[in-house]
Amino acid sequence: MYYINENVKNLFRIFDQNSREGYLRMDLNENPVGLSQDFIDEVLSKVTPEFVAKYPEQLEFTTKLAKFIGVEVENICLVNGSAEGIRYVIQAYSRPGGKILSVSPSYAMYDVYCEMYGRESVHVCYDENLEMNVNNIVDSINDDIDLVIILNPNNPVGDVYNYEDVDKILTACKKHECTLLIDEAYFYFYPNSFLNYALENEHVLLTRTFSKVFSLAGARLGYVVGQKKDIEIVQKLCTPHNVNAFGMAFAEAIIEKEGMLDQLVEKQLNGKKYLIDNLREKGYTVSAKEGNFVFIKPKHLDATCIVKKMKEDKKILIKVYKNVPNLGDCLRVSTGEIEMMDKFIDALEDIDL
Ligand SMILES: Cc1ncc(COP(=O)(O)O)c(C=O)c1O
Repeated sequence: MYYINENVKNLFRIFDQNSREGYLRMDLNENPVGLSQDFIDEVLSKVTPEFVAKYPEQLEFTTKLAKFIGVEVENICLVNGSAEGIRYVIQAYSRPGGKILSVSPSYAMYDVYCEMYGRESVHVCYDENLEMNVNNIVDSINDDIDLVIILNPNNPVGDVYNYEDVDKILTACKKHECTLLIDEAYFYFYPNSFLNYALENEHVLLTRTFSKVFSLAGARLGYVVGQKKDIEIVQKLCTPHNVNAFGMAFAEAIIEKEGMLDQLVEKQLNGKKYLIDNLREKGYTVSAKEGNFVFIKPKHLDATCIVKKMKEDKKILIKVYKNVPNLGDCLRVSTGEIEMMDKFIDALEDIDL
């Protein structure tokens, strides 16, 4: 008899992320402009037929990355985007039917993976002021939870944890023997990291990506950090040669180019500040914390309608978030360089009448 896994059969996935070329992409927290053409050409000039024909070798890049972030090679597992790393952590550190605790709202893929692998999502929700009471996370950790996922900063809220918060969460995780995953996809936009927690504690893993500040979403590269024993577990799940040579070449060139990362962060954060200041001056309510994204409450039109008009009339992609505490239905907009922010502001003023 043919067999299809019921979890997969019933899984709801969104596959609308095609045909985005030619649009100003402010929907998925990428860099809407990207790296300079000169830099792209410089990296590509090193691409030879052998480079393309050969299976990618990870050791050289992993060694450089390890040095760059201050860990040992044994503490890193490269993944094909951090979404892949998160999936591996869920696969390895929670049991079929087990419970995974995360905050809500947050990155949608945690719940998708839960359904995919037959895990149960348990959510700790932000309050009516869009704030997270860390004690609510701590109180929800019990012997039934296999894995706790926190984000620093959170997408889409942008809030962050301090050391005291994470100490409390980690103590509860240890007490109830559950693994802690810290998702730092937006690290560098907000430089406070919990990397040391992953290095110093068994059953604590941390994921990062090259898709955001590094502007390499198309190259699909991320990594998982943890103690050697935990990284060996994650590595066992990797498909052979799971990260591609182009992603590593671009990432390596960025980390080796003196000052490039700082410039990327600065440009993108300047653009974010510009957007917020400008919109607030125009009377918009903007909820913005850390990360390269903000919530904007429309002044006149319905948020869903604005998202549609932005796409159809202005060729700008943004997202709607419904029922955001304190804000209601609002726009979630990825930020980037000032020039792009100006385009968005002009378009919003034309549409939201
Ligand atoms: C919080 C968070 N984690 C992980 C990811 C996955 O990023 P990638 O798979 O591109 O590394 C995203 C992407 O938007 C995200 O917002």
